[in-house]
Amino acid sequence: MKTIICYLSYSGNTEEIADLLKVKLETDDIDVDMYCIGYGVVPNLYEYDLIFLGTFTWDKGSTPEEMKDFVKEVGGKPKNVYIFGSGDTQFGGDNLFCNAVNKLVRFYNSEYPGLKIEQSPRGSQEQLVSKWLEGVLEHAKGKNIRT
Ligand SMILES: Cc1cc2nc3c(=O)[nH]c(=O)nc-3n(C[C@H](O)[C@H](O)[C@H](O)COP(=O)(O)O)c2cc1C
Repeated sequence: MKTIICYLSYSGNTEEIADLLKVKLETDDIDVDMYCIGYGVVPNLYEYDLIFLGTFTWDKGSTPEEMKDFVKEVGGKPKNVYIFGSGDTQFGGDNLFCNAVNKLVRFYNSEYPGLKIEQSPRGSQEQLVSKWLEGVLEHAKGKNIRT
């Protein structure tokens, strides 16, 4: 199975979630490619069985421009995309919290709820990442994606 984590991060929080996911997947003997959006050639996501896509939220619940450009470059809607992200409830409360995650879940018709982390996943929120990943892997198995 081919797995990739693509993420966009300015100040490191989304990157920390991506790194945690990578470590946890590798602990489960799942090899992972990493792609930091904005650096180097955009990978061909259609070559992957399982795709993790991470973003922060910006400007009143918006998806960052770099993520929009990435989505355009990818083109179309690859299957089996699972979305995660970092946000901050201080910017507009629950309605706008990690709204870019909501938008990407809708765009890619992701069949599993997105993961929303308040800033850094360090500390108690690491559990949320683990639980979410377990759920994603269960979901993928249910779809006969070998993990
Ligand atoms: C100008 C600005 C606007 C923001 N707007 C939102 C927002 O609408 N919703 C949200 O959940 N977080 C918002 N945030 C918080 C960031 O998404 C949050 O700090 C995130 O952890 C940054 O991720 P990164 O460290 O991966 O860059 C905003 C942050 C800044 C600086």
